[in-house]
Amino acid sequence: MARILTGIQSTGVPHLGNILGAILPGIDLSQQPGNEAFFFIANLHTLTAVRDASFIRENTYSVAAAWLACGFDQKQGCFYRQSDLPEVCELTWYLSCFTPFPMLANAHSFKDKSSRRAEVNAGLFTYPVLMAADILLYDAEKVPVGKDQVQHLEITRDIAGAFNNCYGETFVVPQAMVQEHVMVVPGIDGQKMSKSYGNTINLFVDDKSLRKNIMKIITGSEPLEAPKNPDTCTVFHLYKLVSSHEETESLRQLYLAGGFGFGKAKEMLFEKLLEVFGETRRKYAAYFEDITYLDTVLAEGAEKAKAIGSETLLRVRKKIGYSF
Ligand code: ADP
Ligand code: TRP
Repeated sequence: MARILTGIQSTGVPHLGNILGAILPGIDLSQQPGNEAFFFIANLHTLTAVRDASFIRENTYSVAAAWLACGFDQKQGCFYRQSDLPEVCELTWYLSCFTPFPMLANAHSFKDKSSRRAEVNAGLFTYPVLMAADILLYDAEKVPVGKDQVQHLEITRDIAGAFNNCYGETFVVPQAMVQEHVMVVPGIDGQKMSKSYGNTINLFVDDKSLRKNIMKIITGSEPLEAPKNPDTCTVFHLYKLVSSHEETESLRQLYLAGGFGFGKAKEMLFEKLLEVFGETRRKYAAYFEDITYLDTVLAEGAEKAKAIGSETLLRVRKKIGYSF
């Protein structure tokens, strides 16, 4: 039995990279017997960068709708909005008193983000402590994350260890689960797909906009008649990620044979995405329209999370000397 926990920030509508790289593998883990999944929308983290209430509200719902549309069964786990659990802020304070300043100052993510921003707030600096609180509050054992978050997991482990050393076993020390084999989904420019590079493919738009998005994928400039190399082509790479082996191989042959243009390959990718994600896109649109339903689901999740989180907090408060 393992408790799996992960969070996705509400910084935008989840794109194809988020879906293939985080949401679907997370759902897969949640369905393995013996696993218990805690999935949440990390909208407190988003405040380090975003100051637009309607943007945060809307994207909190879009991340929630995406998890449900992709098939997460909230009844099998715990599904909540980080901002509904102020307990996490209290724990962040306690943990921050066990976090060496240089550890935060040396975090890659902080160094990278702070060097690119005009304004660097303390929230950005203490971001990993809030993340540690997200994890430790629920006694999570395994945390599926992308490679960029591994250092944050190390920080979480160090903080938990420092607290446990001081007061005796209090926190479960979690492990990062980095799926090495998990794909890095390329964006329309061939780099890693990311909101921050403006190269995403958003499935949750109408067909016409999705088609336009796919048509913008950058390809080589070989003439129609020329044989083409599938292995250096972003369109082929994306097609491969969502198709069967046979389908991928037949597309490979079309590339190699020549007389097959990139426009046609993009058309095939578009059709494939409609086929594979048709149901998911319909469900997403329905969930996103039904904010009342999403609020109900998230409120139920928050209640469940609160029951567990408040027990952990009590344990911590007793250790520190604030509660009996
Ligand atoms: P973005 O880079 O668009 O801001 P996030 O950092 O919010 O995305 O990522 C949320 C989750 O989605 C993380 O678990 C991350 O590893 C995963 N993810 C993001 N982009 C990709 C990608 N291009 N390929 C695979 N997984 C991705
Ligand atoms: N920092 C993570 C990211 O940007 C999101 C996140 C916040 C998270 N809290 C977490 C991930 C706890 C895993 C566990 O992707």
